[in-house]
Amino acid sequence: MIKGKMLYEGKAKQVFATDDPTLLIQRFKDDATAFDGTKKSTIAGKGVVNNRIASHMFDLLEKRGVPTHFVEQLDDREMLIRALEMVKVEVIMRNVAAGSICRRYGTEEGLVFDEPILELYFKSDPHHDPLMNTEHIIQFQLCTAETLAEMSGMARKINTIMREFFHSIGINLVDFKLEFGLAGDRVLLGDEISPDTCRFWDLKTGEKLDKDRFRFDLGKVDEAYQEMLARVTSA
Ligand code: TMP
Repeated sequence: MIKGKMLYEGKAKQVFATDDPTLLIQRFKDDATAFDGTKKSTIAGKGVVNNRIASHMFDLLEKRGVPTHFVEQLDDREMLIRALEMVKVEVIMRNVAAGSICRRYGTEEGLVFDEPILELYFKSDPHHDPLMNTEHIIQFQLCTAETLAEMSGMARKINTIMREFFHSIGINLVDFKLEFGLAGDRVLLGDEISPDTCRFWDLKTGEKLDKDRFRFDLGKVDEAYQEMLARVTSA
């Protein structure tokens, strides 16, 4: 596999072409941003941790019948992925109230929902990723109703699988963000699953082991990422 030119650089990752147009290389950086990129820093070793955790999670999901863009982990910071036409929608699943749902609705942090809540956001930095409903998505032609239904079904299945997995390593899976894309007419899970994109609370102590440590200056940021890597890879 020959690594080609960089096609895209986001806040936490870069994407490179390969000599096969259906395959790309996704490289994880140590850069961390929060609050729409207004808070910026680096977290030592984050790219390595996120690549390893995401590779582990994609592998687990594939084994459980969820199609993803993951092909294989290439090295510490890179994975080989299938090229997708990304849907500009972020799907967030919430099992427990935290973050923006508390700010938006005054919901008490830690409230456990009887059923997981699925939220849809417009992936658009200039518009600050606003919350949307299914009608906005269809009318703005971000994807078809069929694709959106498929994404929602996959997100709920992924939540069931991930909740059980993280519970088995002593973690309460509070919420997480997913992004999907199309490879031809197939809907695949894309992007990443990592402490950047999930909230992980220790089941016994409630300690936060995710990017909230960076967002809210809670300290021991890289230690939390390393702890998550150790638990995920011990499973
Ligand atoms: P929120 O409570 O800030 O809406 O975040 C919900 C979940 O989504 C949380 O696990 C963090 C993740 N997330 C991202 O991965 N990217 C983002 O840009 C945002 C805002 C949240």
